[in-house]
Amino acid sequence: MSKRIYFNAFHMNCVVHQSPGLWVHPDDQMHKYTDLGTWVELAKLLERGKFDALFLADVVGVYDVYRGNREAAVTQASQIPVNDPAFLIPAMAYATEHLGFAFTSSVLQHHPFTFARMISTLDHLTKGRIAWNIVTSYLESAGRNFGQPGLAQHDDRYDIADEYLEVCYKLWEASWQDGAVIKDRQRGIYADPAKVKDIDHEGRYFKVHGCHLAEPSPQRTPVLYQAGASPRGRQFAAQHAECVFVLGSNPQVVGQYIQDTREKARQQGRNPEDIIFLAYVKVITGDTEAAAHRKYDEFFEQISYDGGLALLSGWTGIDFGQFEPDQPLEYIETNAIRTIVHGFTEADPSRKWTMRDLAKYVGIGGAGPVLVGTPEQLADTFQEWIAAGVDGFNIAYAITPGTFVDFVDGVVPVLQRRGLMQRDYQEGTLREKLFGKGHARLRDPHPAAQYRRLWADTANGYAPTPGEHQEENSSSIAK
Ligand SMILES: Cc1cc2nc3c(=O)[nH]c(=O)nc-3n(C[C@H](O)[C@H](O)[C@H](O)COP(=O)(O)O)c2cc1C
Repeated sequence: MSKRIYFNAFHMNCVVHQSPGLWVHPDDQMHKYTDLGTWVELAKLLERGKFDALFLADVVGVYDVYRGNREAAVTQASQIPVNDPAFLIPAMAYATEHLGFAFTSSVLQHHPFTFARMISTLDHLTKGRIAWNIVTSYLESAGRNFGQPGLAQHDDRYDIADEYLEVCYKLWEASWQDGAVIKDRQRGIYADPAKVKDIDHEGRYFKVHGCHLAEPSPQRTPVLYQAGASPRGRQFAAQHAECVFVLGSNPQVVGQYIQDTREKARQQGRNPEDIIFLAYVKVITGDTEAAAHRKYDEFFEQISYDGGLALLSGWTGIDFGQFEPDQPLEYIETNAIRTIVHGFTEADPSRKWTMRDLAKYVGIGGAGPVLVGTPEQLADTFQEWIAAGVDGFNIAYAITPGTFVDFVDGVVPVLQRRGLMQRDYQEGTLREKLFGKGHARLRDPHPAAQYRRLWADTANGYAPTPGEHQEENSSSIAK
């Protein structure tokens, strides 16, 4: 097989993820999002189609930027109501064997100590099929839900995320040494206390004294995803991410972000090819080109203009209710997702996007481009994107399960015939399925691996690396 293309399904535990208006379509099932069966069936479908993972977005605030209130979002169910994605995963994992589960959690919403245990628990229950999409939030309403006046400043949020990860890496990689769990039933010894250490983290934003409460899970650190391609976002991705969810209206825009992030990774001493870039696309297919376009037109008739602008306003932090429909968008620096505004303005000066264009564009499946065509045409298009540096795709839906049924039954066989998509899963954890055998755990020079190695390098356990927050703020770490 030539280099295979990676595929994720992009979803959310709510009625309307990215296609406002379409939840009323007769073939859409998302009004049953509170029914576990909906999700188990989706997971089984995706595994039948050999998808790498189900990628679950999440928010912890409401979309109230559009016209300064949440009326449009609530009326159109634009990501509200929204349930917690993590609770879906054990049931879906139990019904499947290989599908990965990438879920989103903002560094705002859980203390890292609690979150690290939650991930370890999920990684155990899924036998190592968990990935975490690390996000820093974009809705000011989310900040207000956690006792703050709003969100911290854009780049400061990434600084907080850096330290959040440092705490998690210590818990996942440095607290329980390899071999700590003995499970000796004859002697009645479960684990060796000499091999379990407190992390004693005292940083600028977090303080965690003790040891990790969960024993090491198959991957220890989950597969790390990141989305957000502002300059600071790319820096963060270059340091931590194994997979990047990248957004742009065409391969050239996305290619720019990828090239820069790979270069930044190289500067950090990482192999730039160790990062998988998945582009955000929406896919509508049919037996003929005309059938695919008819489907698109039918969906298009049903989209909600207000519901779409409520989402777009929330993502960008710009109230799209204030503009005339034919006014072109100019770059405005906000405290929300800078990638989206940049992608529609400065990243591609050859095209001017009016408010009307944008509302139509995001209405079906959100801010990524919509690809419409026969399976053969779509396979050609995917190859054009791959040529621009993309490794795979995160497929957003118009309707569920319809979009994924069409993809699995129509597009997957064509991709497999061309040798572009896996026919069988690799054995092992999600990381091994993505990166190959021998990649169960993160390796040097990734920062997570450095925390693990530190244990081996010091006689009595964990000690800080130069430049860590502890160095500046605490002298209590070294033991
Ligand atoms: C394609 C894409 C998907 C994202 N998904 C989420 C999400 O589900 N939840 C969330 O809180 N933030 C999400 N974000 C926001 C970012 O991850 C990020 O932390 C932040 O908003 C800043 O992005 P920036 O670096 O592009 O400015 C997403 C961003 C992009 C580009």
